[in-house]
Amino acid sequence: MGQTVLVDQAFVQPQEHRPKTVVSDADDIPLIDLSPLSSDSDVTSAPETLLAQVEAACRDWGFFQVINHGVSPELLRKAEATQREFFALPDEEKRKVRQDEQNALGYYEAEHTKNVRDWKEVFDIIAHEQDEIDVVGLVLKNKWPQVPLGFRETFEEYAKSVEKLAFRLLELIALSLNLPPKKLNIFFEKANSLLRLNYYRPCPNPDLVLGVGRHRDPGALTVLYQDSTGGLDVKRQSDGEWIQVKPISNAFIINVGDTFQVWSNDKYTSAEHRVSVNSEKDRISIPFFLQPASCTNVRPLEELTDDKNPAKYNEYSYGEFIRARKDGNLKKLEVQNIQIDHFKRAQ
Ligand code: OGA
Ligand code: NI
Repeated sequence: MGQTVLVDQAFVQPQEHRPKTVVSDADDIPLIDLSPLSSDSDVTSAPETLLAQVEAACRDWGFFQVINHGVSPELLRKAEATQREFFALPDEEKRKVRQDEQNALGYYEAEHTKNVRDWKEVFDIIAHEQDEIDVVGLVLKNKWPQVPLGFRETFEEYAKSVEKLAFRLLELIALSLNLPPKKLNIFFEKANSLLRLNYYRPCPNPDLVLGVGRHRDPGALTVLYQDSTGGLDVKRQSDGEWIQVKPISNAFIINVGDTFQVWSNDKYTSAEHRVSVNSEKDRISIPFFLQPASCTNVRPLEELTDDKNPAKYNEYSYGEFIRARKDGNLKKLEVQNIQIDHFKRAQ
């Protein structure tokens, strides 16, 4: 069956990775109400039922949504409006803050995932700027656009508020693994956390392309806001089906990244996900990637391994892992880019 291809060939997914027209929406990822965590108490007082929900969600899905999370709806509205204004600017304006080989922060429109171009534009902001060049050679200084007015203030405020939530979730997930809640905080003292603004234009061939190709997030966890369009699909562990994550107003989508999968020695899952696009509506999303410091060596935690459950991964440097991944994202390479399976031990 012929169909008119209106997009550049670089965006076209290989046959087996194209989105099916119907993605199952009969099931959905778990929804967790965080209201039992009052904003001033620490997570040690989290009720058992909440911990059990977190444990099941991280183990069975690697994804869940949270409500009553403490980030104000007004801030979400302001961020969404500012983001839309930025991406509506003319290309030459956006390119004034474009990423380059030295500095991978700011605007970019040509990212590839697994060597196929993504149908999206992004703007990357580091949560904590650093004066020195990172141990793996990354420049960690933000590029701020002149317009829209208030862009910097809005996203600085947003990053701060969402980072607070990310740390509460980090502690809650640690507790759900029977670790002391602050056990993992040490890896984030010089955190590499990144706020990313995604913009997906309507696409004339939504059945051939993806907004973001299938991938797993490398960090510890991701806190993502999406607008009401929908398009994020998660691979269900039980049967490998793609499930659409239903937009819930003012909720955040949380997913466990590769770092937690390795720390937990595969108890928790870094699930594969992707973004389908839409021929009519555009879409925005805002992931906050809670990522350890570049100098962190990631390996299964001692508390979670023993003779019966030996470490399934060799240690790797977080900084080098993301550096290698980033090179593969900026341009098309002839080889598959690096994945955590690379560090998996033969059992
Ligand atoms: C990502 C991602 C999902 C989305 O940027 O890593 O998975 O819904 N985004 O935009
Ligand atoms: Ni992702």
